[in-house]
Amino acid sequence: MGVPVRIDPFTPARLGPVTLRNRFLKAATFEGMAEDNLVSDRLIDFHRAMAAGGVGMTTLAYLAVCEDGQGAPNEIVVRPEAVPGLRRIADAVHAEGARISAQIGHAGPVAAATGRRGLAPSRMFSPMAFRFTRAIDEAGIARVVGAFASAAELLRDAGFDAVEVHLGHSYLLSAFLSPKLNRRTDRYGGSIAQRADVPRRAVQAVREAVGSSMAVLAKMNMVDGFKGGIDVPESLEAARLLESDGCLDALELSGGSSLMNPMFMFKGDAPIEEMALAFPQPIRTAFRLMGRRFLPAYPFEEAYFLPMARRFRAALKLPLVLLGGVNRLETVRGALGEGFDFVALGRALLREPDRIARWQRGDAADAACIHCNKCIPTIYRGTHCVLVPENERPGHRP
Ligand SMILES: Cc1cc2nc3c(=O)[nH]c(=O)nc-3n(C[C@H](O)[C@H](O)[C@H](O)COP(=O)(O)O)c2cc1C
Ligand code: SF4
Repeated sequence: MGVPVRIDPFTPARLGPVTLRNRFLKAATFEGMAEDNLVSDRLIDFHRAMAAGGVGMTTLAYLAVCEDGQGAPNEIVVRPEAVPGLRRIADAVHAEGARISAQIGHAGPVAAATGRRGLAPSRMFSPMAFRFTRAIDEAGIARVVGAFASAAELLRDAGFDAVEVHLGHSYLLSAFLSPKLNRRTDRYGGSIAQRADVPRRAVQAVREAVGSSMAVLAKMNMVDGFKGGIDVPESLEAARLLESDGCLDALELSGGSSLMNPMFMFKGDAPIEEMALAFPQPIRTAFRLMGRRFLPAYPFEEAYFLPMARRFRAALKLPLVLLGGVNRLETVRGALGEGFDFVALGRALLREPDRIARWQRGDAADAACIHCNKCIPTIYRGTHCVLVPENERPGHRP
């Protein structure tokens, strides 16, 4: 590792064809505020608050590229009818001086949790839905890849600055990368190069659709966080292939699985009781009994993905976004000094949407999030930090 460079996180930076006012991204945290699968006024308030709070770019999440790509009830489905609302949210964020990205994806096996059967690379039992998913066929792959391209075009038309292709957390494209979830024997299964084929096609289709009119990012797992899942050597190989395609402006490094091991993504306390309460009976009781197995707690550490992400930084030229437990300004400065191009913050900004502006004003306090993870089950009723009083929550409506 060379001598660390000092980069001011509060100065403008380029992300592909767009310039951000600083190096801070609001990480995707599904807001659970859509109405009829469309942008709502609450959702606009939520992202206006994030933008006013100082981020360089906020991320609207999660948007399904097609109807069967939803991973939770009432997510935005990108379609022509959604464009006017998407334009309103983009305008509101721009008026606060920030950029806006949209996380687009297909939930794949995770969709089984919504009562849908769920599409996966191979037929598999979904532990969340207690049923088998359906293996996607060649026509299905072409349909989904096309849906990624159409979604990106619609977001461009709505004035978005960027799209983030979801290649993580056991969603469909992540499931293709995963040796455990992809057991195909055709050209889309087997070696990591073959398992990366569909994710690469989706990213290429997005880039071809939008050209240089917007930035294209991907969020990808460095490790799946469950036995038999993707490991660092293979995810590095996938990242190298994505880099060689030349279609990405940045790669955001994550880990964990919404399907098999969600807590790996977050670290900190496991909100078993709060999650149980989010489900109807008899799932509630089952969750109380079995929850500890599904949600093992991992101790929280500042920037918990940084040691793994360094291996990607050393191997790739592609701009990288550091994510996961970033709570301190000194962590941000250190990461930029090590060659990461941006940092993404999720929970820290749910807790304090204006943390970036405060840092910029000279208040160097650590973020106030305590990693209790009680915000996670709130995604079913409007995502919020439980420590923020109701009338101060972004997107709150009396
Ligand atoms: C309430 C909540 C909702 C989330 N929803 C999404 C999502 O829709 N898509 C996604 O990729 N990650 C999602 N995440 C994960 C975050 O983007 C991020 O990867 C994770 O919280 C770690 O970053 P942090 O320590 O800064 O919070 C969510 C996290 C939280 C807390
Ligand atoms: S509920 Fe609030 S304090 Fe707890 S993890 Fe979520 S954002 Fe942090």
